[in-house]
Amino acid sequence: MKIAPFKLERYFDKYEFSAPYLLSSSDCEPLKLNELLRLATGKQLEEWNSLRLGYTESKGDPELRKEISKLHTSITPDDALVLVPEEGIFIAMNVLLKKGDQIVTTFPGYQSLYQVAAGIGCHISKWEPDQDLEFQIQDLQSLVTNKTKLIVINFPHNPTGRTVSAESLNQIVDLARQKGITIFSDEMYRFMEYDITDRLPSVCDLYENAISLFGLSKTFGLPGLRIGWLTTRNKKLMEALITFKDYTTICNNAPGEKLAIIALENKRQLIERSLEIIKSNLSLLEAFAQVNKNWFVWKSPKAGSIAFPELIINETIMEFCQDLVKKKGVMLLPHDVYDFERPHVRVGFGRKNLPEVLNVFEEYVKEKGF
Ligand SMILES: Cc1ncc(COP(=O)(O)O)c(C=O)c1O
Repeated sequence: MKIAPFKLERYFDKYEFSAPYLLSSSDCEPLKLNELLRLATGKQLEEWNSLRLGYTESKGDPELRKEISKLHTSITPDDALVLVPEEGIFIAMNVLLKKGDQIVTTFPGYQSLYQVAAGIGCHISKWEPDQDLEFQIQDLQSLVTNKTKLIVINFPHNPTGRTVSAESLNQIVDLARQKGITIFSDEMYRFMEYDITDRLPSVCDLYENAISLFGLSKTFGLPGLRIGWLTTRNKKLMEALITFKDYTTICNNAPGEKLAIIALENKRQLIERSLEIIKSNLSLLEAFAQVNKNWFVWKSPKAGSIAFPELIINETIMEFCQDLVKKKGVMLLPHDVYDFERPHVRVGFGRKNLPEVLNVFEEYVKEKGF
């Protein structure tokens, strides 16, 4: 398969480990190994110290899959396949799609959610939000045709931080069920809703022909573990996913799986930790947006660690972002990396040093005379 470069990842590659002030990361403050191990039981610590670094069970550690099933209402450990989150997208698209199929996907979005399909030779229909960044269900309904094989959704959404109502989600599931369409639901930012009433059910619990993707990279602040999972109640589909994994990683990294079990057993505490950082940072960003509202148009997220404000400025967003990172070392993500035409930037606010980063950004803005 020929596949186009992943623009966001290429942009991050340029600055993520050289720019001192990251203002667009999507993960929450990463935990240190000793912080996570402090949550382990005595038995888990013993197991950690004597861990055999051999191959692991291809589907994932049974204990880990048991913890994953506890995040759901209808998923058993056998309905979960542990893998790297990004790998999960690649495998699922390859298993579900063939050349000529049509998919409908939330857009803008994490590029692999549609680029893998494009690489396979599928037609991509984009479900875009309105001017206020709200996803309207009637727009999705108008894109679905008799040729649609897959609906790809991502709520809470990267990059807008928006979500849909439970009623709208049910309408999506009803539409898919009626037309025999599979749903791929990327739920990487789940459990980071600021108001718990905005939390949606996992789509694999609602619909038998859905695959949900979740993992530890965002909500749990553990992207370096490279642990995520696909869940589906469709047994045939699960078998096909497992079979494809033999051509990607075969099995997961042993230390990552053991640490993932500790994280999931302490999920309440870790989710609370992330939400605390996010909420405190969010209030600072909202205050910044209020002061700068003549050019920085804030579009409030509902969940997660990222937002997608619109900038009304006399230069391109790419020029603005490049000048900012060059002069002050502050990294923002321009809309171009999402192939989205409207002038937005992705702001990330899951990291503890946001107050410091925001100060440097404010300095830049003042110097520019905004
Ligand atoms: C919506 C979405 N899905 C999947 C991923 C992939 O996660 P990971 O980088 O942990 O593989 C990301 C990462 O940014 C994401 O934002």
